[in-house]
Amino acid sequence: MISPKVKSNPHSSALDPSKSGSALPPSSVAKADSSTNLGTNLDHQFIDPWYAPQTAWPKIRPAFLKLPATYSFDLDRAREEFRRVSESFPLKPFEVLSAEGRRRPRRSYRGLGLTARAEATDPLYDALDLYGPGGQPLSIYHTFAGYSEKRPGAEREIATLDESGFAHETSASTPFFHELLSRFKSPLTKVRFLELLPRGIIPPHVDFPYYQGIRVHAALESNPDVYWEVDGEQFQIPCDGNFYWFDTGRYHAVKNAGTSTRVVLSVNLSVYFNRDGSVRHTPAEPLEDLIARGEL
Ligand SMILES: [Fe+2]
Repeated sequence: MISPKVKSNPHSSALDPSKSGSALPPSSVAKADSSTNLGTNLDHQFIDPWYAPQTAWPKIRPAFLKLPATYSFDLDRAREEFRRVSESFPLKPFEVLSAEGRRRPRRSYRGLGLTARAEATDPLYDALDLYGPGGQPLSIYHTFAGYSEKRPGAEREIATLDESGFAHETSASTPFFHELLSRFKSPLTKVRFLELLPRGIIPPHVDFPYYQGIRVHAALESNPDVYWEVDGEQFQIPCDGNFYWFDTGRYHAVKNAGTSTRVVLSVNLSVYFNRDGSVRHTPAEPLEDLIARGEL
């Protein structure tokens, strides 16, 4: 497994979706358009306590890795299945929960859950909300939302997201997707279809360190102007029937500057701990190795 070599902003290289071999070649054309800079080069002092030497867990060096063929799938079939599922169960806009408890829809970002909590009143859309320990609803402002820095008096805390209850597949998970998800050995947490509409942006934020949970994306629909960015490194996830991991424990963001909707199957996994908190892997087992060995 080779980490793609991508340059840091403001002259980031994008990976060419048409060159999707076993390793990810860097594009020879540097993208100098500063409009693609998503601004994830933010102060890390707030998330440093998650990692060594403060904890046993080292930071991960690569920002972005392709998963091995263990997790490859038939892209045309997946697109057809998604089309059928989304006709029956339309994706809904995410909502921002204000500190006062008011909800505001995000018009360009929609989702549908393939997993939900047992207590969910609306399982298909349970995975669109954020929850803390004990299941209390969390505002995005409780997490490391980069733009919360700009709010006067806003103080960021260590995110306390708890997704361990997302253990139940919903009716959006067809036998095809169930089989695909069953290849992961780790407990599944939030699994969702996520649509980012044209002109949509997911601003810089941090979710959780890799040892609490990781995220892998399989792109079902995309366009040449969709960019993911982790800590100043930009890349593109090709629609090639593979999953890609990226580090959501550092500042990350996504932008769809194209004219068509981006659709991903987004899978969150608890690689290092079981749902009951017991250990699956130790800090001595780097995530890069587990990915390379198909041990997710
Ligand atoms: Fe995120």
